[in-house]
Amino acid sequence: MILKHPEKRKIVSLKGAVQISSSTFFVYTDNYGKTFLKSGKDEKLQKNAFKNMVDLNPAIKGLLKKYKIKPSVDTKTLKELAGGHMNDTCNIAMGIYSILSEPLKKEIDKAIIKEASMLHDLGKVLIPSKILNKPAKLNVKEREIMNIHSTLGYELLKTQNIKEETLELIKYHHQNLKKSGYPALEEGNTPPSIGVQIISTADKYSALREARVYRRRLNRLEALLILYKEVREGKILADVYDALVKYAEKFDT
Ligand SMILES: [Fe+2]
Ligand SMILES: [Fe+2]
Repeated sequence: MILKHPEKRKIVSLKGAVQISSSTFFVYTDNYGKTFLKSGKDEKLQKNAFKNMVDLNPAIKGLLKKYKIKPSVDTKTLKELAGGHMNDTCNIAMGIYSILSEPLKKEIDKAIIKEASMLHDLGKVLIPSKILNKPAKLNVKEREIMNIHSTLGYELLKTQNIKEETLELIKYHHQNLKKSGYPALEEGNTPPSIGVQIISTADKYSALREARVYRRRLNRLEALLILYKEVREGKILADVYDALVKYAEKFDT
């Protein structure tokens, strides 16, 4: 009898993300059909998983070519985002959701908000690290490249058995009620869903509460005041903002 050499284990798809205590883990399946969790330690496996995702979708190659981005996967960024900002955004988004009125809650599934917020910045793994970690404000060209991360995240996950509603939230997590965010909404699109508004508000608050190379970490009041300006500009729904304030007063101390 000839024994077949076992096939090397490969990640073949990313199925989603889960939060365990305060860390985000990605849910993968391998070539043996097994589902498993990864926090980002096995870089080689993860890099291959992302390379597969890029290969599965020609739209990603087109985007990278258009913006002259060399395809490379930054798993260090993924690890940092998963352990920090994406996790925080998820906690804030879940906090906002839990405080919203019942009719608004009925418009979106809690599980969709959770998964989308944990995966929302995944597209950043393809953004060159010299842009992602630039120790100064981005110039116009760099900003253009940075702004495609939400579309890249959407395209990466489109082939990965992720629900359409989750994908929509990932794609539009930089949109707002005034439709002045990115990417542009399609013609005739209604204002971004309540799910988009919850995630985009949580995302902004999380970012303001983190230090940036060009600014210090803002305190709770400073961050809330900046977002209040966006309520007045018609970018953030007042109900979502009120829920954020209640959440922040209780849990962001
Ligand atoms: Fe983002
Ligand atoms: Fe984000």
